[in-house]
Amino acid sequence: RPPRVPRSHFTHAENIAHRAGSGVAPENTIAACARASASGADRCEFDVQQTKDQQLVLIHDETLARTTNVEELFPDRSPWRVSDFTLAEIRRLDAGSWFSPRFRNERVPTLQQALEMLGKGRAGLLLEIKHSPRSPGIDNRVAAELLQNRDLWEGRRLALQSFDRQALRKLHRAVPDVPILLLGADNGQLSDVADYADALVLPHAARLTAGQVREVKARGLRVYAGPTDRPQVQRRLLSFGVDGIMTGVPARLRDVLRY
Ligand code: G3P
Ligand code: CA
Repeated sequence: RPPRVPRSHFTHAENIAHRAGSGVAPENTIAACARASASGADRCEFDVQQTKDQQLVLIHDETLARTTNVEELFPDRSPWRVSDFTLAEIRRLDAGSWFSPRFRNERVPTLQQALEMLGKGRAGLLLEIKHSPRSPGIDNRVAAELLQNRDLWEGRRLALQSFDRQALRKLHRAVPDVPILLLGADNGQLSDVADYADALVLPHAARLTAGQVREVKARGLRVYAGPTDRPQVQRRLLSFGVDGIMTGVPARLRDVLRY
């Protein structure tokens, strides 16, 4: 039987569906997020990238090959970079069959579609901006799309995250009312993070220590950890007082949070 964690430690910890719940449905899809939401996720984490015609879509890899049928539809377009395809082309792709035939014809979603989901289910959004030399200006476009669609997210659970500190500063200036999470800063250098970020996401969940969590919290920042799908690790993180955990299997974390 797992060690009992005092309930007060984790009453408010968020259950975050990593890549919208990649353990149980095709990652970064609306179907995955809907499922995660129904399984107790508080947020769906999605990865944002830019198409050739500067539209914003939700997909993790720099190329379309692993999570769509792009090779079948466009055999001559290797290496199938997201930034080399227009939104119209990407919308033709099947982003579900690679995971299971049950998800056939699931599409690569747009950022707009994810924003439209807010308020329809339980889960909010955590948007990770993926930076690459092939997508200059992505931060400006994310900010512009958020400002144009304020009615879809204002008062709802929306946050942004990135590994890129400069980008986060810029986004914080553009949309100051959207919480910002800095990814991967488990190597110190935290002195000015609170100027633009509300929280850190600490990876290496299995190796995280109570001291690291305390140090971040002492700076007035919240702490998120993961991704991890292991209940044993999740219980340990909760005993450290983390504010949220990312997982590919939100239903399992829901049970841990209930215990
Ligand atoms: O831990 C946060 C996570 O979203 C970053 O990893 O590669 O799944 O985007 P990745
Ligand atoms: Ca991500």
